[in-house]
Amino acid sequence: MSSVPETFRIVGDLEVFRLGFGAMRLCGPSILGWPDDRDNALRVLRRAVELGVNLIDTADSYGPEVSELLIAEALHPYPDGLVIATKGGLLRDASGRWPRDGSPEHLREACEGSLRRLRLERIELYQLHAPDPKVPFEDSVGELARMRDEGMIRHVGLSNVSVMELHRAQEIVPVVSVQNRYSLADRSSEDVLDECERQGIAFLPWYPLAVGDLAQPGGSLGRIASARGATPAQVALAWLLARSPVVIPIPGTASVAHLEENVAAAQLELSDFELAALG
Ligand SMILES: NC(=O)c1ccc[n+]([C@@H]2O[C@H](COP(=O)([O-])OP(=O)(O)OC[C@H]3O[C@@H](n4cnc5c(N)ncnc54)[C@H](OP(=O)(O)O)[C@@H]3O)[C@@H](O)[C@H]2O)c1
Repeated sequence: MSSVPETFRIVGDLEVFRLGFGAMRLCGPSILGWPDDRDNALRVLRRAVELGVNLIDTADSYGPEVSELLIAEALHPYPDGLVIATKGGLLRDASGRWPRDGSPEHLREACEGSLRRLRLERIELYQLHAPDPKVPFEDSVGELARMRDEGMIRHVGLSNVSVMELHRAQEIVPVVSVQNRYSLADRSSEDVLDECERQGIAFLPWYPLAVGDLAQPGGSLGRIASARGATPAQVALAWLLARSPVVIPIPGTASVAHLEENVAAAQLELSDFELAALG
């Protein structure tokens, strides 16, 4: 058996349980507007914290605004040690597109909005949602560095970046996390994950369950899951936890039952044989 650490120290005193929660799925259909069952969304958030989750990922563009407002409604005043990791740099229009805006003016305005909605004086982890090809990358990261210097944010993270972009950002400001798409089904960010591991930076894989596809029965996931008395989603998450100690999956769900199932994946240690069969 490989021994999988339960927590990761993002930096200094910021130690998090290695199963985070992605709060994008709490919004209405297509991540637009309020969910039909708002009380359920509040219940999911409160249950996540009860279960020991202390990293919640969100963004101003989820809803838009809805995900952050739900987090504040469910959890403010926040328990000690809860890290709310939000993001700026994407917009969300009514047609469902995600236009990028990495201009310094927009990032500052977005961060001010997140502070207000989350009822925080400082955001523990603020991530650039994605580089904007219309804006020099250094300008976007430079604004995050200024907001960090001013105390609006404590730590800077990046999302949807290459190894080269990570290095360019690190010329400007310390980067404590990278959030890229990564799962058993999508290894395109393998090089970024390896670089995060080399540097001891947190790597937050988004779509860790391939939007639920990896929770379906069948294949080697399903076989290992039934042999271990687990679910395919748990095996997919346990594989991520075993992949590297810097990985902190942030599975998203609007279901308390799925949340409980996902958090319990931290207890599932896969054997070297099982890891090889999956990998
Ligand atoms: N940085 C970025 O660009 C970016 C992009 C996308 C997402 N994200 C972040 O990453 C988080 C995770 O991504 P995601 O939520 O899109 O995808 P995901 O975690 O791969 O999958 C979520 C989907 O899987 C289902 N699911 C979750 N747990 C399950 C279980 N145990 N059994 C069966 N189905 C299950 C959910 O449905 P139910 O609600 O029915 O459980 C939901 O439809 C997001 O919430 C967001 O915070 C970041």
